[in-house]
Amino acid sequence: MTSEPRLDPARVLDRLRELREHDAPTHGGRILAYVYDPGRPEIDELAHRAAEIARPLNGLDPTAFPSIAAMERDLVAFVRSAVHGPRFGPGRVVGSITSGGTESCLLAVKSARDRWRAASPDRAHARPRLLAPATAHAAFQKAARAFDLDWDPVPCAADGSVSAESMLSRLDDDVALVVVSAPAYPSGAVDPIREVSDAARARGIDCHVDACFGGLALPWWPGVPVWDFRLPGVTSLSADLHKFGFAPKGVSVLLHRGRARHRSQFFATTRWPGYPVVNPTLLGSRSASPLAAAWAIVQHLGADGYAELTARTVAATRGIAAAAAAIEGIAVMGSPVGPAIALVADVSVPEVERVDPHHLADAMAEEGFRIQHQPGYVQADGVRIPHSAHLTITPVLDAVVPEFGAALRRAAERARGRAPANPAAALAAMRLLGYGPGGRVPGPAAAWRILRLAGAGGGSGSAVPSRLAPLMALVERLPAPVAEALLSELIARVSEP
Ligand SMILES: Cc1ncc(COP(=O)(O)O)c(C=O)c1O
Repeated sequence: MTSEPRLDPARVLDRLRELREHDAPTHGGRILAYVYDPGRPEIDELAHRAAEIARPLNGLDPTAFPSIAAMERDLVAFVRSAVHGPRFGPGRVVGSITSGGTESCLLAVKSARDRWRAASPDRAHARPRLLAPATAHAAFQKAARAFDLDWDPVPCAADGSVSAESMLSRLDDDVALVVVSAPAYPSGAVDPIREVSDAARARGIDCHVDACFGGLALPWWPGVPVWDFRLPGVTSLSADLHKFGFAPKGVSVLLHRGRARHRSQFFATTRWPGYPVVNPTLLGSRSASPLAAAWAIVQHLGADGYAELTARTVAATRGIAAAAAAIEGIAVMGSPVGPAIALVADVSVPEVERVDPHHLADAMAEEGFRIQHQPGYVQADGVRIPHSAHLTITPVLDAVVPEFGAALRRAAERARGRAPANPAAALAAMRLLGYGPGGRVPGPAAAWRILRLAGAGGGSGSAVPSRLAPLMALVERLPAPVAEALLSELIARVSEP
């Protein structure tokens, strides 16, 4: 127990504001990941007020709080219409509001697994496969671990694209669900959804479109190949309202083709002495605030409003891609469709002209813009998807393109010709300590000692070094379980009292 005097409410809020001063700026297009700023303050204000009205509710029971059911109905109907889900018939599209993309992905997998197991008695205790391109969001690895499926990542080309043939060659009866993305977060590529969903349908395999990222932008994006419920083989689809729906964090939509698929997502039990439990999603009690905020934004914007905001995102994306293309030494990875691009070193020019994307990201941070470091990834077939810098492009950036482009040019100038970070010394030390390939995995104390040696732990909340390029290079080359233990320890220590 602390003996510090209690604070009055005004002082508490001042303290919170002080804490917030150390956060990355959430508005104004300064951070190109994590947050989705429509650049329209009235949308934030509306979300704020709606969230406050719904704050006392508990989403656990929509019969006690019918406003929750009404808002969920409206949101599911809106997203269903945006992604062309049929409203009637046995293939009608129904769904749920979840707490975010990860929960939507987890539930899509759980549903498919339960249906796969129920399809025949010899499958009842079997372990099916979860098939997806290697660029599918990590939430699917989490789902495979949580729900006991074998994660089967299909290798992609170095530009992050996956071929339909390589996906199709791995479709078999032990696949409970095949996942495709619209688009994939690391590359911005839209997977070959038509080919994969057609083939899955022909074999009676469920196919999930992960549109958590693009689901509220692609419906209004020009020139996207058909990617949604217009394809008959698409059996479920996730779309996050807290991304390009512009709602505060905590709200996503998961849609299923047919009521039976949706219902197998539910957990219900009467086998305890308490109230009968029916949870459509993973959580029990849940906040209605993000739901109400999303509902209010959708009521306010409607499809036309989203079309307008998407047009600004399209303009910003084109402007930023053009700015990047004009800079010697960097290139856009692959052929992105939608509001994400990844910048890589242009390997077609001599090394002295190349711009390493992680040095670029570090230099951009000095310019006041945060772009996201993505470590390279060597796949099962040996093909390496190179390390890159991810950019999530939001409507607010439309007004900032010239400033962003100028910062990118200056940052590239400073990074050009610098060799990628080389973690050889750190790797050798790790091997000596027994954490090399095939070696041990550090526990909390050892992981923290290693992190301290690597310069982490400067002070509360500032545990991460300001230049991330060396850390990312190490993360890429360490055995995955070791890197995962180190990163888990870092994040755990940040919040440890
Ligand atoms: C394609 C895709 N799927 C799933 C997710 C997970 O979403 P969340 O962070 O809301 O859990 C993300 C997040 O960026 C994503 O881009």
